[in-house]
Amino acid sequence: MSDDLDVLLSEHRKFDPPAAFRAGAAIASPDVYDRASADLRRYWGEQADKLEWITRYETVLDWKPPHARWFDGGTLNVSANCLDRHVRTARRNKAALVFEGEPGDRRTLTYWDLYVQVNQFANVLKSLGVTRGDRVAIYLPLIPEAAVAMLACARIGAIHSVVFGGFSPESLRDRINDSECKVLVTADGGYRRGSVVPLKRNADKALEETPSIEHVVVVRRRPGAVGDEAFAEMTEGRDLWYHRLMRGAAMWCEPEAMDAEDVLFILYTSGTTGKPKGIVHTTAGYLVGAQTSTAQVFDLKDDDVFWCTADVGWVTGHTYLVYGPLANGATCVMYEGAPDWPEKDRFWEVCERLGVTILYTAPTAIRAFMKWGDHWPARHDLSRLRLLGSVGEPINPEAWMWYREHIGGNRCPIVDTWWQTETGSIVISPLPALTATKPGSATVPLPGYSAAILDVKGNEIPVGGGLLALTQPWPSMLRTIWGDAKRYVDTYFSKWPGHPELYFPGDGAKRDDDGYFWILGRVDDVLNVAGHRIGTMEVESALVEHPAVAEAAVVGKTHELKGQAIAAFVTLREGFKQSPGMRDELRDFVGEKIGAIAKPDDVLFSADLPKTRSGKIMRRLLRDIAEGRALGDTTTLADPNVVSSLKEMYEAQES
Ligand code: WT7
Repeated sequence: MSDDLDVLLSEHRKFDPPAAFRAGAAIASPDVYDRASADLRRYWGEQADKLEWITRYETVLDWKPPHARWFDGGTLNVSANCLDRHVRTARRNKAALVFEGEPGDRRTLTYWDLYVQVNQFANVLKSLGVTRGDRVAIYLPLIPEAAVAMLACARIGAIHSVVFGGFSPESLRDRINDSECKVLVTADGGYRRGSVVPLKRNADKALEETPSIEHVVVVRRRPGAVGDEAFAEMTEGRDLWYHRLMRGAAMWCEPEAMDAEDVLFILYTSGTTGKPKGIVHTTAGYLVGAQTSTAQVFDLKDDDVFWCTADVGWVTGHTYLVYGPLANGATCVMYEGAPDWPEKDRFWEVCERLGVTILYTAPTAIRAFMKWGDHWPARHDLSRLRLLGSVGEPINPEAWMWYREHIGGNRCPIVDTWWQTETGSIVISPLPALTATKPGSATVPLPGYSAAILDVKGNEIPVGGGLLALTQPWPSMLRTIWGDAKRYVDTYFSKWPGHPELYFPGDGAKRDDDGYFWILGRVDDVLNVAGHRIGTMEVESALVEHPAVAEAAVVGKTHELKGQAIAAFVTLREGFKQSPGMRDELRDFVGEKIGAIAKPDDVLFSADLPKTRSGKIMRRLLRDIAEGRALGDTTTLADPNVVSSLKEMYEAQES
């Protein structure tokens, strides 16, 4: 972390919001920060009043640390806020989703279209016995039906749990079982780099061990495929085609009046144990966070074309592809596939052809674009873009500058947005018309949020590096971990004993003289690989399930494109031989267990792992080895020789 700190400390460039941008911006006066901090409850109450309530709330916030209730007494429906209130206005015929599949198929759904389909699918779910509070798993490609399924759940008060289509059958199975989903919505396949991801086949493997699932709804994604049972074998009585169900479904479904604190969705994310956490978000607070932040950070106007490139399988896709933009009545682009298919200018082609005005993507993608070369974006007219966003991991100043120049034409402000699955919506970010930006800094907390840098004892560090803390509750904060209330308290609200009100996100950060925050990355055993969160323990647990593996330790190492890559140190069992073949086998094994995103880049075999005298693996030293750094303090090791021989082996393997 100290190397990063040095780079960031030497970053002194600063960019004022462009004057042209300031005129007509949604938030153009800095008073908003003071007004919000002067009276948090009043501020969030004002934001909540911009939603459509069935019954208005009674209290804005009930905070008994670490448990918050927001907008108690209120009832509302999220799908009605995202759809019904727009179809009553001239927005009825406005494009809600402009979809482009990877093979090039295109579909535009107006607010009216989306509204009808959501109503119909809500009725389909009801006909399958889904009622308020039931869980529905969604395992789909990035296609409009994903948004339809999510909103249909919200309409009837069912809780959705979206599982990223890149996750393995076992990951899907574990997530379905953890929250006992009743219905699974999947597709015959999705497209990725020209080939079909066989989602239904993966799902079938998962479904061998998911007793709670009563029905599987299968979207026929593969355009042109006829009698396409090849990719989807349908189990009689359990599996049903989406298009057939929709044909017979009524077009009106009364939206359920949900309590403000009813659960809207569960989204699993990795933590420091082998078991992912089901992050629980509730109805009103989440929607207030999503609606407010989308309007403020992206300065949304009615004629904007907003493209958030994230998959719905991640929280970014939930909040900035579905709920936030739709609550604001925006037009969203949804692109199914890879950025380099069929060519490395697919994103720029889409931006040009669809007239994208706001682009929100991840540093890992920006670094890949940089590497591919300036000529790819240069081929396209990107002059409609007016604002750029970044999310998911720290963005290095070099990538930030490249994004500004080659995509933003030195004209568009960049909003580097820090947040997490747990925060539900953006927490630290510039406001594009107000905040001067610095390459690599997410700048300052949005109005209504407060953050600080603390030391391990909880003392504030006004300028310098330490642990990031959020010091006040916020509406879209997670409420608990599904089925594990204790883990919620332990993970997020126990870092500073005696301060149950302080939220610990797991990140290290630094604050500069201007009060700007510079996020440095995770300080726990969680990696951020290409903007995706992966627990080291999860990968270790997968590795030790392989019959050849006796012991495994996993650490992150710097990677020029992915930010971090996974390095695994493995001790084989007696009778198994290390070989390049074994290395590939273990990498693939992790891919099958968790998903391709968790495959280690490096696997190093070693007869021993460096341990303390009490038997704890010293990851710090493994990180030093993986990064090729000088070894830190080795005096607490049981056997100091282990680590020097490991280092030699690692270096030999690298060359
Ligand atoms: C972790 C959260 C937020 C949606 C995507 C990831 C890192 C996220 C930034 C940023 C530096 C960032 C943090 C955070 N992170 N945004 N702008 N600058 N780091 O969601 O999977 O819940 O991961 O991503 O380390 O804790 P997630």
